[in-house]
Amino acid sequence: MANGRSGRARPKVSVVGAGMVGGAVAQYLALRDYADIVLVDIVEGMPQGKALDLAESAPVLGYDSALTGTNGYEETAGSDIVVITSGIARKPGMSRDDLLRTNMGIVRDVTEKAVHQSPDAILIVVSNPLDAMCHVAFGAAGFPRERVIGMAGVLDSARFRTFIAEATDVSVEDVSAMVLGGHGDTMVPISRYSTVAGVPITQILEPEQVKALEERTANGGAEIVSLLKTGSAYQAPGASVVEMIDSILLDKRRILPCSVLLQGEYGIDGLFVGVPVKLGEGGVRQIIELSLLPEEAAALQKSAGAVRDLVEAMERLAAEAPTG
Ligand code: NAI
Ligand code: 2OP
Repeated sequence: MANGRSGRARPKVSVVGAGMVGGAVAQYLALRDYADIVLVDIVEGMPQGKALDLAESAPVLGYDSALTGTNGYEETAGSDIVVITSGIARKPGMSRDDLLRTNMGIVRDVTEKAVHQSPDAILIVVSNPLDAMCHVAFGAAGFPRERVIGMAGVLDSARFRTFIAEATDVSVEDVSAMVLGGHGDTMVPISRYSTVAGVPITQILEPEQVKALEERTANGGAEIVSLLKTGSAYQAPGASVVEMIDSILLDKRRILPCSVLLQGEYGIDGLFVGVPVKLGEGGVRQIIELSLLPEEAAALQKSAGAVRDLVEAMERLAAEAPTG
């Protein structure tokens, strides 16, 4: 079901998985008012209902984005960007391997269906475990690495910025932050490159304060889960995806930390790991290689190792029982 004036010359963004994160992506993107949006989910009625609800917000909030909800992929044809948020959360009694097996099956299936309709799209992967799911989407899409991008670093850096602004009592607008590595416990907040009005926080805060902020950042996802109890974060993740979409579709060429397939950069080969990239027309336009201290480089290697473990676990699971 399409709501609004579809068929105009606006970029098209499809969001596969119309759950909490998918809904937030659609909401924030609609407010930007430059793209038409398609929400896809397997639950009947839900993406249609969310799309209609957002369309009915448009007269009040003042946007003309067309919003479509569907359980199929035909409506996604010709998308400029496909955001993949589909998957399940770990349930009681489910092992990490069970979760990995289920989500790798879902991400592979939805990627194949989406790229069949949109062979020139740029994929933004959100489903967890993030870096491993980027590998799955990359394999299923057969796209060049410039067009398969994982969202995590923007979110992790936004969390770091929030905590830095709070600790230094300044506007978040004057804080920038950099978090590298995989999206997990081993992520690597780089405090030397995290600044308040251009001054590294290592020159402003005591070492133990810096360490506490880094640790809170690495536990940022778990902190929200422990408060919400029924799910994980979705507002900041949704906003982070939209920052990436803006940079690509408006060709802003922002430098944002994203999970991309490294081919020798940072001494890492053949793994999706979070590093700063320039995002613009066509997707990843450049991978930025920061100069790292030995301990920072070692932490990044350790984080890449955690991604490698998941990739190997997926290979083992695929060999044991192919997921269809
Ligand atoms: P959710 O459960 O609210 O939404 C997931 C949606 O995927 C559900 O509506 C479900 O029906 C749908 N789905 C499942 N299988 C599908 C299929 N085969 N085709 C189409 N849709 C399907 O979960 P939420 O909170 O939106 O999170 C989504 C994913 O994003 C999770 O894996 C979560 O861990 C991850 N996430 C990643 C973040 C990151 O930084 N990369 C941040 C936040 C969440
Ligand atoms: C987060 O960091 C769950 O990955 C998700 O909030």
